[in-house]
Amino acid sequence: MKYLTLLPLFLGLASIAMSSAPPARVSLCSGGCPSAAAAVGAAYFMTNEPSGNYMVSATIEPDGTLAPYEAVYTEGTGAHGVRPDAIGPLDALFSQGSIGVSAAQRFVANVNAGSNTITVFAINTTNPAQLSLIGRPISSGGEFPTSFAINKVGNRLCVVNGGKINGVSCYTFAASAGLTPLINTIRSLNLNQTTPPTGPANTPSQIIFSPDEKQLIVSVKSGYLAVWDINTDGSLSTNFQTVTGGVLPFSLLYVPQKNAIIASDPGVGYDIFNMDTNTAVSFPIPGQTLTCWSVFSKESGNFYMVDVGVSTITEVEVTNSLGSTIVKQYNLGNDGPIDTAVATINNKESSFISSFMYSLAANATGLTVLSVNGPGQAKIYQRVDISGPARAANLMLDASNLQGMATFIGK
Ligand SMILES: *[C@@H]1O[C@H](CO)[C@@H](O)[C@H](O)[C@H]1NC(C)=O
Ligand SMILES: *[C@@H]1O[C@H](CO)[C@@H](O)[C@H](O)[C@H]1NC(C)=O
Ligand SMILES: *[C@@H]1O[C@H](CO)[C@@H](O)[C@H](O)[C@H]1NC(C)=O
Repeated sequence: MKYLTLLPLFLGLASIAMSSAPPARVSLCSGGCPSAAAAVGAAYFMTNEPSGNYMVSATIEPDGTLAPYEAVYTEGTGAHGVRPDAIGPLDALFSQGSIGVSAAQRFVANVNAGSNTITVFAINTTNPAQLSLIGRPISSGGEFPTSFAINKVGNRLCVVNGGKINGVSCYTFAASAGLTPLINTIRSLNLNQTTPPTGPANTPSQIIFSPDEKQLIVSVKSGYLAVWDINTDGSLSTNFQTVTGGVLPFSLLYVPQKNAIIASDPGVGYDIFNMDTNTAVSFPIPGQTLTCWSVFSKESGNFYMVDVGVSTITEVEVTNSLGSTIVKQYNLGNDGPIDTAVATINNKESSFISSFMYSLAANATGLTVLSVNGPGQAKIYQRVDISGPARAANLMLDASNLQGMATFIGK
């Protein structure tokens, strides 16, 4: 009897001893790495694999093209939300902002939705694609963390959790200590959810600071924004205010010079929230199915709404009176684009100035770069394969788990 009950324990220990720890980093440029000294920046996304989450980096070359560089272990695990609607397997976290960059403090942070932690990496001063862990992953203050807000000077970070224990929590950042929890910042969204959550409806999508950093705002795919006031010591108001609008408000961007937020909305197209009047107007994108991500380009002055369902980016103009029109639509074939970031390269040596959209082409297991140099002028510039380099490096990677996109420009 004794032997029988102990046997599974021994077998368990043996299998733990036999499975080696994931490698700390693997190179994705076995055919020869691009010149780190020449790179003007880097782009980052994550594998979000339940067996071990890796941050993947690619250098941004002086002409704006990407070159896969390496994958670094986050010491956390990824996760995938539950989708009873079976719309598709992409968009594991139902969020935008699962990777955050502070250019001011030169760090990159990512969520580990499977281990309920946040990992922070320092960006190497000579090679922006080379990341090194700062400390160990820290608890996200809830379950299934999915999105970050980082303040302008880069000494404060807030995260939103979308699981059974959902809500927000905030941290201070210091290069030496990494993240330290800030007191009185764990606040619930009171969502009736499980871990992992069932979505995309009834889950949080993105967390942002207001431009004056006096409010913390979370979009919830139940037709509202949750807004907390931030006190001078960084603590949050006990309860949040609700601004209702839209169907499934997803990614959040402030409209420049306005107290207004434009949100992508897979239920309709996009919404514009007027934060002065606490009202919202929804704008349809004809033929859209899953318009979940968005970016703004200073060069064109327009917003770009990313639809994974029909592989289309819709360029949108917001008028002075907070009206809006569709400028142009760009079809990206089989990309299945999700998280996307914008970066501008201003190379004084070569007088090369250009703005780019870096898009995680999840369905194609790759990255797509588009140049953006004026309204209605987005063009596909480069397509990069990720599955080949990952296979060559033995890096576990699955299109349905991939998530996040953030860029850092250092020159
Ligand atoms: C930064 O990158 C350079 C070039 O790859 C390398 O020589 C150096 O050791 C790195 N520094 C740190 C702190 O990792
Ligand atoms: C929470 O959701 C579950 C599953 O849908 C449901 O059975 C339960 O009644 C809900 N609880 C509340 C308090 O709404
Ligand atoms: C995903 O790629 C497959 C081909 O690999 C294609 O049939 C499908 O239409 C693509 N889906 C999207 C949303 O692009």
